Amino acid sequence: MSYERKEIAPEEIARQEEICRRIFDRVTADGQRPLAMVDTYGCQQNEADSEKLRGYLAEMGYGFTRDEFQADVIVVNTCAVREHAEMRVFGNVGALNHTKKARPHQIIAVCGCMVQQPHIAEKIKKSYPIVDLVFGPHELWRFPELLERAMTGKKRVFATEKSDGAVVEGIPQRRDGSVKAWLSIMYGCNNFCTYCIVPYVRGRERSRRPEEVVAEARELIAAGYKDITLLGQNVNSYGKDLGLGVDFADLIRMVDAIDGDYVLRFMTSHPKDATEKLFRTMAESRHCAHHIHLPVQSGSNRVLKAMNRSYTREKYLEQVRLARSYMPDLVLTTDIIVGFPGETEEEFEDTLSLVEEVRYDAMFTFIYSKRVGTPAASMPDPYTRADKQKHFDRLTELSNRISGEKHREYEGRTLRVLIDGETGREEYNLSARTDGGRLVHLKGEPSLVGQFAEVTITASNTWALYGEIRNSEFGVRN
Ligand code: 5AD
Ligand code: SF4
Repeated sequence: MSYERKEIAPEEIARQEEICRRIFDRVTADGQRPLAMVDTYGCQQNEADSEKLRGYLAEMGYGFTRDEFQADVIVVNTCAVREHAEMRVFGNVGALNHTKKARPHQIIAVCGCMVQQPHIAEKIKKSYPIVDLVFGPHELWRFPELLERAMTGKKRVFATEKSDGAVVEGIPQRRDGSVKAWLSIMYGCNNFCTYCIVPYVRGRERSRRPEEVVAEARELIAAGYKDITLLGQNVNSYGKDLGLGVDFADLIRMVDAIDGDYVLRFMTSHPKDATEKLFRTMAESRHCAHHIHLPVQSGSNRVLKAMNRSYTREKYLEQVRLARSYMPDLVLTTDIIVGFPGETEEEFEDTLSLVEEVRYDAMFTFIYSKRVGTPAASMPDPYTRADKQKHFDRLTELSNRISGEKHREYEGRTLRVLIDGETGREEYNLSARTDGGRLVHLKGEPSLVGQFAEVTITASNTWALYGEIRNSEFGVRN
């Protein structure tokens, strides 16, 4: 697959920021602070995109609200991976009829992967007249320009041209938390798994330059972030398009070289190109969590082939064995699709047996959802939704049993966690994560949020661990 790697020039972003200043003058002219709401669906990449939308909105002078009746601008950042999320978006956008009636000047924008599909953009055009602005993931960098057009023009604005995508640096970001941060290292996907819409809506794989990634990581660490997740649809193909001889393992090494007390994570890894070098680099690194999210999707070779996953069950199991040989304490999580077109009882059983063999710490399981325009959408699918639901329930039961058993193995152990928030509950008022990403409930001073602590695990269930804090000055890894 050949395409030209495109970078948006810094002058273009400077021009967008100039427009932000113009909008600022317009929306703050009456001396009141205008409010915006950004509602995000889907994956971490979308969360990261929403932080950029908020970055621009903040430069335009907007404050933020969660109340759609207070908002002057509403941006709905959507996901296209499964139908369920799309239905929720339509339901929620439809409900904005009421807010727009109460606030006629309100601007409603819908963006993200869902609207990059022509049939969805068309449906919004025809059936959702309250929507003023629609733009796909490739247009996010020029949100200020599009918003200004929607504010000043007479016509609704649609910007959803098909594109391979570009790499953009320098968009202002307003991050959600102060403990955890997302750091995009690449965009797009070239894998074309037959069930998946992502390669059609997010364009071709393109990597940010390593020095940009390292500079952003350095800033985050200096600002006190303690948990940094490198993001990409398939981080293992990082750098292939750059031709610099820097692969994902090299990038991890470069980030890991930054001193500081933080945990480094990444997602998502495609099993077809996870390498021994990556596992070795993780094991040798100072900051990398011993956690891999390695989506298997199915345990059946026939289904894997039909999904175009480019690995077999045997190759996957070998990867898991290799990863665990470097990191015996590895936490392993996965994604599984149940009910891919034509998946038989026997093929489903292959998935169950793979799950029994690997014993994942946690699993994200999905019922197959037909996506317009993907190859799987036209594959014969004789099984009913009820058949699929039965399989889904069996898989969930197995996954819960294994997670519960794995959690029980933590009881009595003392380990390092990062305290990341308050729960609002009395008994266990703090939440924390192990390096492997397991949820831990604790009791302690709210001032501990954002710190690492040594805890002893005293109890557990399927979903979480419960612990007691031993020492909150523990585990500085400089
Ligand atoms: N139907 C169901 N699940 C899907 N995923 C991707 N596309 C689909 C689909 N059409 C799942 C995969 C992927 C995760 C992010 O979403 O398991 O790893
Ligand atoms: Fe979709 Fe496959 Fe790309 Fe993941 S690797 S985004 S499942 S096409």
